[in-house]
Amino acid sequence: MSTDLVRATVTDGVLHLQLNRPDKKNALTRAMYTALADALDAARVDPAQRVVLFSGAGSAFSAGNDIADFAASRGRVDEVARFIGLIVDYPKPLVAAVHGAAIGLGTTMLLHCDLAWAAPSARFKTPFVDLGLVPEAGSSLLMPRAFGYVRAAQMLLLGDTLDADTAAAWGLVNGVVPEADLLAVATAAARKLATRAPAALRAAKALMRGNIRAEVLAAVQVEGDRFKEHLTSPEAMEALTAFMQKRAPDFSRFE
Ligand code: COA
Repeated sequence: MSTDLVRATVTDGVLHLQLNRPDKKNALTRAMYTALADALDAARVDPAQRVVLFSGAGSAFSAGNDIADFAASRGRVDEVARFIGLIVDYPKPLVAAVHGAAIGLGTTMLLHCDLAWAAPSARFKTPFVDLGLVPEAGSSLLMPRAFGYVRAAQMLLLGDTLDADTAAAWGLVNGVVPEADLLAVATAAARKLATRAPAALRAAKALMRGNIRAEVLAAVQVEGDRFKEHLTSPEAMEALTAFMQKRAPDFSRFE
């Protein structure tokens, strides 16, 4: 299941999925979403893969959706929806080790992780509106709940960047650890989980997530519909083109 762009290794019951497109800050293409989803689908039914750990190669966790790939998709983003559908309802624990940029889905996927650690270099940002888009992956529901509305608005409307300490203070990650220790800390926690009674672990996670599961799934559905509509909008085209042309977007002509 390993590809060049997503490295998958299984050690001590932990499936480690490392995003491996460092020259593009691990921006996620549709092919990468498919590789991730295939690996998650396989792990879900494999008793030897008890926990999933996400990390990024190079200097970033992930710059989120690949903007060029998105601009070319013409609103057909089924691969993204498949990946999101898997992580929002994944039965086994998900753990993340975050350093450098964690943008868009690089941040929103953490809302579906059970444990996450950040290096001091981590920077979290959800610039959907900056891109003429709307929040995804249940973030419009989960961020206001997790952080409070005004902090969520700082992320989702203003597109502010959170540093690692603030992300820990707001509860997006468990803590901040030195970059050199990041993967070891996250891996140790993932391995510890992999030694736990698997049925009890799954049941505990299902109970913790179960209270708002239906609401999250509904939010993901509505967000996905809005996201697709906005992806082909003139506003999004201006924003995505501006990114590729390395200039600031100009929304002044839009109402
Ligand atoms: N989609 C496509 N390409 C991306 C990308 C993305 N989301 N993020 C980074 N890249 C590319 C850059 O275009 C650049 O490519 P190039 O070397 O061919 O010019 C390369 O990755 C390195 O990025 P660069 O911007 O030079 O690095 P940086 O350290 O100055 O900044 C980021 C890193 C992640 C902060 C910055 O690239 C960024 O803001 N990216 C966009 C993030 C985003 O809006 N994601 C969408 C969320 S929905």
